[in-house]
Amino acid sequence: MDKVTMGPKTLMYPMPTVLVGASVGGKPNYMAAAWCSIACMAPPMVAVAINKARHTLKGINENKTFSINVPSTRQVVEADYCGITTGARVDKSRVFESFYGKLKTAPMIKECPVNLECKLFNTMDCGSHVLVVGEIVETYVAQEAVAGDSPDIKKVDPLIYSDGKYYRVGERLADAFSAGKAYKKSR
Ligand SMILES: Cc1cc2nc3c(=O)[nH]c(=O)nc-3n(C[C@H](O)[C@H](O)[C@H](O)COP(=O)(O)O)c2cc1C
Repeated sequence: MDKVTMGPKTLMYPMPTVLVGASVGGKPNYMAAAWCSIACMAPPMVAVAINKARHTLKGINENKTFSINVPSTRQVVEADYCGITTGARVDKSRVFESFYGKLKTAPMIKECPVNLECKLFNTMDCGSHVLVVGEIVETYVAQEAVAGDSPDIKKVDPLIYSDGKYYRVGERLADAFSAGKAYKKSR
């Protein structure tokens, strides 16, 4: 493959679209975030890169709790709205219906099929953004998004973000931890 150099860029494929929830001054606030990933298995942790100017970050620092909410494609308008408006200027507390769990101070979104309730574990100042790492203390999944014992990606129907556009998941390709068994050394 011939390559084209593009300089240092934050390219990753695909990126999720999540809504980070925090209580700021006692009011739920939600922001869209695409720079989010699982950070650890035991204990379960998630990491999200949050710009220092975000109103949501104030609430995370205030309570040491936050939530990661996975919207479905049905919530594309509301999710994007939370990515183009700041809680510093507009009240986003009624965009969604909020609920609270074990930690009491991490607002979560009823309409989102998956919610991760998080306790702040650590932050790392990376420059423009702070990497916020949270321990997942509880996971909430909408009944209708569960198939058998676990969530079904097609039922969750998550919003995928790439290059300024939203997508939905495509077709199943192969079984993970298994497809590689067909690899032949002679190739
Ligand atoms: C699709 C999308 C993804 C975004 N990803 C991030 C992100 O990963 N980190 C971040 O700091 N801001 C991200 N933003 C921008 C924030 O969501 C936006 O600045 C929002 O207004 C912040 O809200 P707040 O000030 O109420 O916290 C994203 C916006 C959109 C639309």
